Amino acid sequence: PQFVDYQAEDAAISQGTVASNHTGYTGSGFVDYTNVAGSYVEFTVTTATAGTAQLTFRYANGTTVNRPMDITVNGNSAKLDLAFGATANWDTWAEQTISVTLAAGSNKVRATATTTGGGPNLDRLRV
Ligand code: GCU
Ligand code: CA
Repeated sequence: PQFVDYQAEDAAISQGTVASNHTGYTGSGFVDYTNVAGSYVEFTVTTATAGTAQLTFRYANGTTVNRPMDITVNGNSAKLDLAFGATANWDTWAEQTISVTLAAGSNKVRATATTTGGGPNLDRLRV
């Protein structure tokens, strides 16, 4: 399969900052979500054809608790409270994949933290 990577640090960010103070990220850094519910990263994903696609989020969560996020596509709920479970530390990255339906052309994929801890550190979205 052919993948396209969208770096979180290049996406639209609400209540988060671009950071590089942990190792193992791809691109030039990652997004450090502010520790509040409602913080989000929104990617603009372009596909030639409409249909099912796999979204793979690469993240780190150096806490011991889940940092769930709602995933929306073009404003529609694709997956509520997708789990972003603990990784060994903030330098250890894991992936979480879901299947969604994309429209042909431009799509807005948003990952919004749903707990007061905020989101995990988010490195990229692979489509
Ligand atoms: C630490 C860590 C950050 C992380 C934050 C958090 O400060 O260095 O990268 O985002 O914890 O709990 O969200
Ligand atoms: Ca954070």
